[in-house]
Amino acid sequence: MQLREVIRRRRMVRAYQADRPVPADVVIRLLEHAVHAPSAGFSQGWDFVVLREAADRDLFWAATSEDDEEPDAWLRGLQTAPVLVLCLSDKDAYLDRYAAPDKGWSDRDEARWPVPYWDVDTGMAALLMLLTAVDEGLGACFFGVPPHRHDAVRAAFAVPDGRRPVGVVSVGYPAPDRRSPSLRRGRRSVAQVAHDGRFGVPWTAAG
Ligand SMILES: Cc1cc2nc3c(=O)[nH]c(=O)nc-3n(C[C@H](O)[C@H](O)[C@H](O)COP(=O)(O)O)c2cc1C
Repeated sequence: MQLREVIRRRRMVRAYQADRPVPADVVIRLLEHAVHAPSAGFSQGWDFVVLREAADRDLFWAATSEDDEEPDAWLRGLQTAPVLVLCLSDKDAYLDRYAAPDKGWSDRDEARWPVPYWDVDTGMAALLMLLTAVDEGLGACFFGVPPHRHDAVRAAFAVPDGRRPVGVVSVGYPAPDRRSPSLRRGRRSVAQVAHDGRFGVPWTAAG
């Protein structure tokens, strides 16, 4: 598939054909593409915990759901995903990398990082997985882990303390799902978001 078609077709898929597993070679390609994401200083401060077994996925949903609540339609849909990829960022990998002689930030001062590039880069890797899923004829969704469940997720999957669950990519063959109500907001157009040379100067396509 052409890249432009992959980009235009990509949408968050929130329900899957539960009885159709994701082929093993597709999972491998998702991960191989993820590690081609760019990263600050080539720090590559990301890890991916791949949940392919039903018992592991159940453990994830138990760790992230409220005990006393019936799953809503959103959760029931996502719970049909045959593969979940937990995307973890690693701040220390960046502080270590930039303390190296060629970067020189030996103070490891976090004030040097007004933008947490460990999370940015992990998000870029997740995007490559989303696009790869489309290219392979599957669907995927990126969703967050509730903040008060981060510790439970780390504990469930033996994730070291310094790693942050930036989000989860669910993957599978799409089943009919409900469009997100957020989409009613409409996509912001290029004219709305692009500025020509100075913020506030309307973008004109003609160079
Ligand atoms: C950082 C991030 C977090 C998101 N978290 C969730 C989430 O927790 N649950 C969910 O259903 N969708 C989540 N989404 C998906 C967005 O709702 C979706 O991308 C947006 O509505 C546009 O729809 P589209 O991706 O299908 O074009 C998230 C997307 C991003 C980029």
